[in-house]
Amino acid sequence: MEDNKEILAEKLALAKLGGGQERIDKQHAKGKLTAYERIHFLLDEGSFEEMGALVTHRTKDFGMEKQVFYGDGVVTGYGTINGRQVCVFAQDFTVFGGALSETHAEKICKIMDMAMKIGVPMIGLNDSGGARIQEGVRSLGGYADIFHKNVMASGVIPQISAIMGPCAGGAVYSPAMTDFTLMVENSSYMFVTGPNVVKTVTNEEVTSEELGGALTHATKSGVTHLTAANDIQCINQIKQIISYMPQNCEDKPADISIELGNEVREALEDIVPENANHPYDMRNVINGIIDEDTFFEIHEAYADNIVVGFARLGGKSIGIVANQPISLAGVLDVDSSKKAARFTRFCDCFNIPLLVLVDVPGFLPGTDQEWNGIITNGAKLLYALSEATVPKVTVITRKAYGGAYDVMNSKHIGADLNYAWPGAEIAVMGAKGASEIIFRKEISAADDPEAKLAEKEAEYAKLFANPYSAAERGFVDEVILPKDTRRKLIKAYTMLENKVAVLPKKKHGNIPL
Ligand code: COA
Repeated sequence: MEDNKEILAEKLALAKLGGGQERIDKQHAKGKLTAYERIHFLLDEGSFEEMGALVTHRTKDFGMEKQVFYGDGVVTGYGTINGRQVCVFAQDFTVFGGALSETHAEKICKIMDMAMKIGVPMIGLNDSGGARIQEGVRSLGGYADIFHKNVMASGVIPQISAIMGPCAGGAVYSPAMTDFTLMVENSSYMFVTGPNVVKTVTNEEVTSEELGGALTHATKSGVTHLTAANDIQCINQIKQIISYMPQNCEDKPADISIELGNEVREALEDIVPENANHPYDMRNVINGIIDEDTFFEIHEAYADNIVVGFARLGGKSIGIVANQPISLAGVLDVDSSKKAARFTRFCDCFNIPLLVLVDVPGFLPGTDQEWNGIITNGAKLLYALSEATVPKVTVITRKAYGGAYDVMNSKHIGADLNYAWPGAEIAVMGAKGASEIIFRKEISAADDPEAKLAEKEAEYAKLFANPYSAAERGFVDEVILPKDTRRKLIKAYTMLENKVAVLPKKKHGNIPL
């Protein structure tokens, strides 16, 4: 009996050591934590229960029968984050570089199945040299099994991927199909083919960091939503994201009840400049409206002409999509449309009400935009906001011009409540451009065309560069003072809490991809 217990203790101790102390030391020397350490910092103290610690690979080729490590390069199990159940896997780089074998994949699939069965977020901590080379197609099959489960779980449970080391080749597609990807700066990279293959095929010289490091994916490709300076910061970001989410698509995000008092916010009165051509930081509007220090921005460094992120309003989780006048005057372009559409769809999947703040001069003109499909990409945001059934509220802080007015959660595409501030300008285009077109003949025939243009511009602006034409038609439900915005929104979301909206029966829509 004593023997049996000793055998178990010995095996579990070996499992905890992964690929051995020497490889653990190497991992630490690179500034990286081990799989067990990452899980330790992610989950509530003592809450982790491991599954499959004694799993081993089944390969006999290439002398692999002599290299057997318990756990087979991935630690899987469940535990809690601030008391909420989650499932987790963490790849162990100390065992075959975290490379994915058939059994490694089976462990990941098993914990994903568990997360689906019990309806809880699935968190994957990736740190892997890719397919286990000694296993060939069995490893590729393992990846495909995971991909398929990612897709089945999409929209059912939140899925979060942290990239905390290498992630190359087919391995990139599991994170890509999850809801949020985080990367650790200088110790992680993601690419379909590495610098050597790139050099051979395209003759480009590029480092791993330039090709697929955290900053590259945060700024150029948008593949990663968040970057962190180190493993611990990355883990804390995961906890923060989780705090805004429900457990699954049938659940609502946790309500942190706060005491409400006088919700008038005078500071909002002074943010938008008098001159409509002067920029201001939309984050100041966001922070002026929401509960203090609750804005958690997503995709901050990518397409910064639109701001997206989670916040709390009156203690409740909301998702914010907001034009950003300090970047490209807040225009919609290819990247900002994709960014906002993706975020909108996440919120809608998981019952997170949407707040859309509008200050948009229109779509960005140019060959670059047209040839890169601003039509299809702009349509993504239009589609995503139209399709969303969560409570949807809009506040027009200043400009809402042209087709972008329609796209930015207008009444017409199903917004529940639309507010505008008194300085809002809602029109087909700016007064100057509009006057140049519709009064062209009159202006060119005038003795002083410039004076005529100014006169016509003023005439047009008086008529349309305000919120009243839209309010008269009910396209705007109410013109409100900026300082009342928080108060109004808290009431609006409370009123909308039990909103029921059902989409027409269909297999699935066909969002323009
Ligand atoms: N399959 C099997 N073993 C692998 C592996 C893989 N795909 N990738 C790494 N390993 C093993 C290495 O043999 C090494 O084993 P050891 O500890 O017994 O010496 C260990 O993992 C660590 O790898 P190492 O190369 O020493 O680490 P590194 O930090 O210098 O480099 C990588 C990491 C990922 C860049 C490098 O290992 C690599 O290029 N791996 C292959 C990537 C690949 O082509 N994958 C298959 C296609 S998806």
